[in-house]
Amino acid sequence: MYVWVKDPSIAGSDLYTKGHILNINANKITVETSNNVKTQELIIPSQDCFHICPEGDVPDHCQLMFLSQPTMLENTRKRFAQDKIYTLVGEILIAVNPFKWIAGIYGVDVMAQCKGKKLYNTPCGPHVYGTAEKAYAAMKRTSGNQCIVVSGESGAGKTEANRQLMNYLIWRGSDAETSQDLTNKIMDCNPILEAFGNAKTTRNKNSSRFGRYVRPPPCRAAPSRWSPPLPPPSHPV
Ligand SMILES: Nc1ncnc2c1ncn2[C@@H]1O[C@H](COP(=O)(O)OP(=O)(O)OP(=O)(O)O)[C@@H](O)[C@H]1O
Ligand SMILES: [Mg+2]
Repeated sequence: MYVWVKDPSIAGSDLYTKGHILNINANKITVETSNNVKTQELIIPSQDCFHICPEGDVPDHCQLMFLSQPTMLENTRKRFAQDKIYTLVGEILIAVNPFKWIAGIYGVDVMAQCKGKKLYNTPCGPHVYGTAEKAYAAMKRTSGNQCIVVSGESGAGKTEANRQLMNYLIWRGSDAETSQDLTNKIMDCNPILEAFGNAKTTRNKNSSRFGRYVRPPPCRAAPSRWSPPLPPPSHPV
């Protein structure tokens, strides 16, 4: 039987590798790992060995047969290898920056697949548009303000995720005729707003030095507004 264990070749890392169970003794397990260069036998506490999930990926980590850090990482890895950059954990959406443009994952066709759908029920699978749809639907249902928190380290793709969220909300909040025109107008402001104080860093060629507070129009008549830049808490100004 195979299990996930911390990779012994990289001390102190959070990387996992598959190991073959050789022996189980009280609460210690002897596991054999191999990185194709050398094979090692480890004696580790049973709580540091994690079950391996069956083949295939799931769109929501909560659907994993065995839920642990290595099984979530492996599910994310399998999905990423198929250009599925989004995975849900319940209502939270995890996005992995592909650092390349993936054909067909954004656009009006994909937006239409999320319109009126529950987060977990979108034909395109988990998507940032699905998250936007959830906020939009809650706003319509409660007539109250909604908030989507986009978080991640520098270069993780927050600005891009926000751009896609805005794209969707503008598309969703306007009718077919005004939609494209309005979307283009608002999105065309993006490079100008992004230009305020952005800097080239080792992690991101266009790292945001300021946050933006943008209010997309709730109906087709109202213009979009933006407030003076706010510093994101993680970025010293
Ligand atoms: N979904 C995506 N698809 C393709 N490329 C992406 C995507 N998200 C991000 N990228 C690429 O990664 C780069 C960095 O992303 P982004 O600027 O959104 O990071 P950030 O989280 O806002 O970083 P910072 O905190 O430094 O502002 C982008 O310029 C873009 O090239
Ligand atoms: Mg940014």
